[in-house]
Amino acid sequence: MKKNWFSEKVKKLSSIGGYQKPELLSDSVKLDSNENYVISKQFQNDILTSARKNSDVREYPLGRVDDLIQSISKFVKIPSSMIGIGNGSDQILDLILANFASKQTTVLTSNPTFGFFEERCKLYSIPLIAIPFSDEMKLNIDDFIKQSKNTDILYLDSPNNPTGFQFTKIELQKLIKSFDGLVIIDEAYGEFAEYSLSNMVKTQENLIVVQTLSKSFGLAGLRLGYFIANKKFTDTFMSVLQYPYPLSTITIESGILALEKSFLMKDAVKNIKIERKRIIENLKKYEAFEVFDSKANFVLFDAQSSYKRVYSALAEQGISIRKLGKIGNHTGCLRVTIGTKEMNSKFLLAIRDLLG
Ligand SMILES: Cc1ncc(COP(=O)(O)O)c(C=O)c1O
Repeated sequence: MKKNWFSEKVKKLSSIGGYQKPELLSDSVKLDSNENYVISKQFQNDILTSARKNSDVREYPLGRVDDLIQSISKFVKIPSSMIGIGNGSDQILDLILANFASKQTTVLTSNPTFGFFEERCKLYSIPLIAIPFSDEMKLNIDDFIKQSKNTDILYLDSPNNPTGFQFTKIELQKLIKSFDGLVIIDEAYGEFAEYSLSNMVKTQENLIVVQTLSKSFGLAGLRLGYFIANKKFTDTFMSVLQYPYPLSTITIESGILALEKSFLMKDAVKNIKIERKRIIENLKKYEAFEVFDSKANFVLFDAQSSYKRVYSALAEQGISIRKLGKIGNHTGCLRVTIGTKEMNSKFLLAIRDLLG
């Protein structure tokens, strides 16, 4: 019996399934992972070349973590004592769940919510109360306020992945103020949205705002996430929970340089928002689609019974989007990332050829 516990545990874990990564299509127009191809390749080359010059990877990355935190602090205009870092925001979320949640703490979130977060809750057997989106792909704040009494942790991705929905600032602030427990607001797509709640952390002790360089800066491959929270939590997270060296030297150096060039990120975000409008307007022309508004760098639409056909036809032309299927009463949901103007035009042309 004792000998079997390991294989039993592996069996139990393997039944969980894990996070569904998108299918890898070679040489595809990649509009499936909410990455950012709008920010120029030159930006990436420049920061990596300089980072390479500044890096000595024989050494563990030590002192420059503080410089990175200072750079983030300057960028978000929040004191550095309230900023922590992680290997992508994924890792920050994971460490928070692993150390603050358990079978005894219930998490309040939306359905759907960020897939990785949901999978991690499953892994740690953390109970979830997930409030569904309406048919218009919106959430009702009162449903959340009602459920807050029964829950210990509130997690919202703001804007939400995959719907693109964001509460109004006033609504979300009201919910956070009324929530008696830990609040995690995931602003992975915050730069594309109407507002950020990072400043609220200064007055709200139970609030952690998580952000990343993966989306707006187009640096998903660097794996650089950070959070803003009260000083005591931040200290404890960084000294006790976080690994001694969570980021590579190249990531730290590149992150510092990228933040110096945040004006390039802002330009890219501006263009993505213009393209987002164009994609929404174009998709709305097709009766076969129901298209939802988005505050992020992607658009969700319901292609109903034709969604598999649309997905496959695009894939055949080397265009990769995310196939989601059923969300509430919407049976054929697809999510497309906003790419460069050229990528988006290819996507729209392929749709026109199929349905026009
Ligand atoms: C809502 C949300 N949070 C966090 C992440 C992960 O970001 P990172 O690359 O910083 O781990 C994603 C990535 O898709 C996301 O959609």
